[in-house]
Amino acid sequence: GGAVARRLTQAKDEFEARVGRRLEIVGVAVRDTSKDRSDTGLDASLFTTDAEELVTRADLVIELMGGIDPAKSLLQKAIESGASVVTANKALLGQHGAELYELAEEHGADLYYEAAVAGAIPLIRPLRESLAGDSVQRVMGIVNGTTNFILSAMDETGADYADTLAEAGRLGYAEADPTADVEGYDAAAKAAILASIAFHTRVTAADVHREGISSVTSADLIAAKKFDCTIKLLSICERVRDANGAQRISARVYPALIPLTHPLATVNGAFNAVVVEAENAGRLMFYGQGAGGDPTASAVLGDIVAVARTRVTGGRGPGESAYADLPVLSIGQAI
Ligand code: HSE
Repeated sequence: GGAVARRLTQAKDEFEARVGRRLEIVGVAVRDTSKDRSDTGLDASLFTTDAEELVTRADLVIELMGGIDPAKSLLQKAIESGASVVTANKALLGQHGAELYELAEEHGADLYYEAAVAGAIPLIRPLRESLAGDSVQRVMGIVNGTTNFILSAMDETGADYADTLAEAGRLGYAEADPTADVEGYDAAAKAAILASIAFHTRVTAADVHREGISSVTSADLIAAKKFDCTIKLLSICERVRDANGAQRISARVYPALIPLTHPLATVNGAFNAVVVEAENAGRLMFYGQGAGGDPTASAVLGDIVAVARTRVTGGRGPGESAYADLPVLSIGQAI
């Protein structure tokens, strides 16, 4: 949030030129107004603890608080009050995306969330817009920076799991409760979001088979090396066809052995990488910083410009689509 506010204040003129109208921050909801936030460049009078009231008087509400409650009710209230919404909240969309997409549709609002998956990497928009004329078969990759940071450090230096996790927290990669990262909940929510867009089907985090990295040890990484492999937490979303050609979806997250020659094996630290396979486009690879304040702010700011542009010109940006409504396989049926 701080990084977004700073950039919006510092680059006011550039944003005005890109959007076609001046963007004005009308308020910032915080838990504690007494905290020093002078680094954001915002006037102290803009800070409020009354988020409920604030979301009713903005054209565009940016939600970067995370968690399910009160983020969900605030976004609902914002949309019902006529605002469009930009959010980075993967947990919320992975669980309650359908409700929010439908509400946005009903109210003619935009709901953008590029920052919810893979930090700075443009992935939602390519899937939703650039590949809208293709048929995506698979979306597979590393979508959690914290676990990749931990596994890379354990692999490269034999670093201790707990120390590396604490460092990921200090660097702003890990969630407030890092269980979401290390147990794969964060990656599963992101997989649900990706599968929903890629396959035009509502997939929730509960549909995604999930295993985390908390039981991966340095000995496992040493053993993997003996087979010219490394271990990465992978998110895999696939379109699967049975013998009769009927289509299903499989979405799963687990630590996997990756051959050292595979491009994903070279993705280290908090970087993310996602391979998308589509019928006509073939294989595409997306790579970049998957966590951290500034990279995530880049994706949020891109959404702000996109949504603000549609507010200025009228109409709506591309919304969600779930027309395919494919069944989701359980892990036992998938592999
Ligand atoms: N905790 C998340 C991660 C932040 O480590 O990837 C970015 O979504």
